Amino acid sequence: MRVLAIESSCDETAAAIVVDGRLAESSIVASQVDLHARYGGIVPEVASRQHLAAIGPVVREALAEAGCTLDDLDAVAATRGPGLSGSLLVGYNFAKALAFGRDLPFLGVNHLEGHIYANWLMANGHASSSSANQDASSSSDDRDASPGPAGDPEPTFPALCLVISGGHTDLVFMRGHGRYQRLGGTRDDAAGEAFDKVGRMLGLPFPGGPQIAKAALEGGPSSLKLPRAWMHGTFDFSFSGLKTAALHAVREGRWDVPSIAWEFQEAVVDIVAGKTSRLAKELGAAQVLVAGGVASNTRLREELALRCAVAVRIPPPKLCTDNAAMIGAAAGFRLALGQRSPFEEDIFTSNDWARVGEA
Ligand code: KG4
Ligand code: ZN
Repeated sequence: MRVLAIESSCDETAAAIVVDGRLAESSIVASQVDLHARYGGIVPEVASRQHLAAIGPVVREALAEAGCTLDDLDAVAATRGPGLSGSLLVGYNFAKALAFGRDLPFLGVNHLEGHIYANWLMANGHASSSSANQDASSSSDDRDASPGPAGDPEPTFPALCLVISGGHTDLVFMRGHGRYQRLGGTRDDAAGEAFDKVGRMLGLPFPGGPQIAKAALEGGPSSLKLPRAWMHGTFDFSFSGLKTAALHAVREGRWDVPSIAWEFQEAVVDIVAGKTSRLAKELGAAQVLVAGGVASNTRLREELALRCAVAVRIPPPKLCTDNAAMIGAAAGFRLALGQRSPFEEDIFTSNDWARVGEA
């Protein structure tokens, strides 16, 4: 089944052609990062207007790169939420209209489930990718890592999923396709949000995550020690104290940018890798599946692999940050089960794992 998938939940307009939820024949990402950088963050109205301008060309490019036309499609899918409403509406409505006009099945996909399913794109195929307009590849420290080798085995259940992005930091137990149980998550800032805010404090360009990772390469251990909120007895996270401590360190003026970036990144990685490995062990998970933009962080990837007793699966960086191939992957599995979304269905802006699937 060949699916056209569209993603427009935040500041990336993306389209992909995905076959059977596993093979990405194309994956086009038009990043708006340069547009928002001057404001130091995403401006929702600017984002939705840019989606309107980009969506047509991006879909055309995804079709062209896959060497197919609308006649070759079996279904259309789009991100339904969570995300910015003005951004979601553009991709969701474009996909609906296309499905309606061509009389094709239509499916709305949860963005976070999409991030998790990027782990299936690595199996049995190869995820091609290129960028349209402003190149998304300029905003990550190591995006050139190639996808997993063709013939990779599929992820195995039960799996512990770490969804770590600009909007979410969730630990979710996945017993099978579409079955989720949230066991922990952030009580305040998401990890990516903390990276972005600390990046701004350090005077680094937006988004801060990849910039901090880059600055940290020049840093190392120093007299600066930032606090780790372990939230004992829970699998929750809290990054606001760490963020405030980083702000005090910046104001104190005793440490340079690379030293603060290094210690901040180590603190986040320590907490996230520590809690994830412990929960995986406690659950007896067969694998750990990592997903979301922050999963492209090299130190986090290293430390998760080191600390987890079971296999850790992390998509290549270009499939960790927002893209439409992951939406096509999640859609592939649900469409194969016969699931469809009614044209009356609306978008949503905040997530509830219990509604994504029965545990
Ligand atoms: O998944 P994503 O592309 O969008 C959301 O769904 O939020 O994640 C974006 C987040 C941003 O906060 C960005 O700073 C962070 O991922 N990020 C990183 C890295 N690359 C992207 N954080 C740390 N290290 C990176 N290399
Ligand atoms: Zn995302």
